[in-house]
Amino acid sequence: EKIQAFQTEFLAWYNKEKRNLPWRYNHDPYRIWISEIMLQQTRVDTVIDYFYRFMEEFPTIEALALAPEEKLLKAWEGLGYYSRARNIQAAAKQLLENYDGKMPKTLDEIRSLKGIGPYTAGAIGSIAFGLPEPAIDGNVMRVVSRLFCIEEDIAKASSRSVFDRAMRTIISSKNPGDFNQAMMDLGSSICTPVNPQCEQCPIQAYCMAYKEQRQTDFPIKSKK
Ligand code: ADE
Repeated sequence: EKIQAFQTEFLAWYNKEKRNLPWRYNHDPYRIWISEIMLQQTRVDTVIDYFYRFMEEFPTIEALALAPEEKLLKAWEGLGYYSRARNIQAAAKQLLENYDGKMPKTLDEIRSLKGIGPYTAGAIGSIAFGLPEPAIDGNVMRVVSRLFCIEEDIAKASSRSVFDRAMRTIISSKNPGDFNQAMMDLGSSICTPVNPQCEQCPIQAYCMAYKEQRQTDFPIKSKK
């Protein structure tokens, strides 16, 4: 039916248009995890070089867990938000002690790692393990708010469940990782905050905001 057609068209667009990014070469949970942490406060173009160097210096979770902290902070220099680097190493130590140096495969276990919140757990779970979990960052919230004309304030933590539920109604259970990344790519390339390129949008036909010509009314965001 309609949701299936939407998923098929959207995933076909992603397969055709997706950017070639070094953490998309395979489904290695370690690579997915590190890239998602780097991408949280840093632009994709900047992350790429850091990501390559990081994987050379710390090729495995074990190498990361056992590395001297100065070496890690040095590799992080320029990315900023050093607590991210410290949390990554703390989580690597948790993984080495409790999970044989491997990323666990359930959402709750992934969530139990230092520095991993709902977004990162959803990204790792879906992209690395195919779990049908949403990964909702700012870009994805904007896309979802427009698709469904969601009036909830994205600045409020309590709105999160509304976006989570909306995503669960549309996420592909066959390919949740690609689906989540298609949402991210759409948000960064077409469904942008200002001047969204709706004429290029692969899911225009399904977008409630487009239908009502209210694209730029969404997302709703209060000033803090
Ligand atoms: N931003 C955060 N995670 C991303 C991903 N996996 N691909 C593209 N952009 C992203």
